[in-house]
Amino acid sequence: MYGVGDVDFFDRVAPVYDLAMPPADGGALAAALEHATRPIERLLDVGGGSGRAAAALTGPEITVVDASIEMLSRARRARGLAGLAADAGRLPFGDASVDAVTVVDAFHHLPAHDAALAEAARALAPGGALVVREFDPDHPLGRLLAAGEHAIGMDSRFLPPDDLAAAMDAVDLDPRIVDRGFGYTVVGVRR
Ligand SMILES: C[S@@+](CC[C@H](N)C(=O)[O-])C[C@H]1O[C@@H](n2cnc3c(N)ncnc32)[C@H](O)[C@@H]1O
Repeated sequence: MYGVGDVDFFDRVAPVYDLAMPPADGGALAAALEHATRPIERLLDVGGGSGRAAAALTGPEITVVDASIEMLSRARRARGLAGLAADAGRLPFGDASVDAVTVVDAFHHLPAHDAALAEAARALAPGGALVVREFDPDHPLGRLLAAGEHAIGMDSRFLPPDDLAAAMDAVDLDPRIVDRGFGYTVVGVRR
């Protein structure tokens, strides 16, 4: 109903998105990024939207990558963050060119999970980390969230943490489930 990746929806809600969302948990993201075995100087925040998660991080040079022009415009105007309009399944970055990739509350919107993971793995240098923060569809609140998103016409597809870890392993990322619950975190370290 909202087009591939629910991007039309995010284009429409971009002006009010940050009013409706709590700040991202920068501490949890930073802790997850510590799984990287190389210094994190260059980071891509894929499906980064208005830069909510990127704004919670300090240190690396961050590029927000998103398919919604309006969300990227918010990231630039409200937060001064550099952005690039691109599909998570076709990242316009070279092989082994970044130290970390984050995907926060966005993986379930991505239309091609395997392509997004393969692209993150390709762009990561050895020892770099992919950090995905998501919602567990097997948790009661996760079931509610999935039902709510589908009820408003979204195409969201949620993966449980063990399935996401297995999918990371298949693209040469060493997976670690960092925390479980309604919201969970899986890190994949590039082998
Ligand atoms: C719920 S928002 C999350 C934004 C941000 N990460 C945050 O935590 O606030 C999901 C984002 O995924 C983006 N998105 C959906 N499909 C995408 C795709 N194929 N490639 C890149 N971004 C996509 C949407 O445009 C939207 O900005």
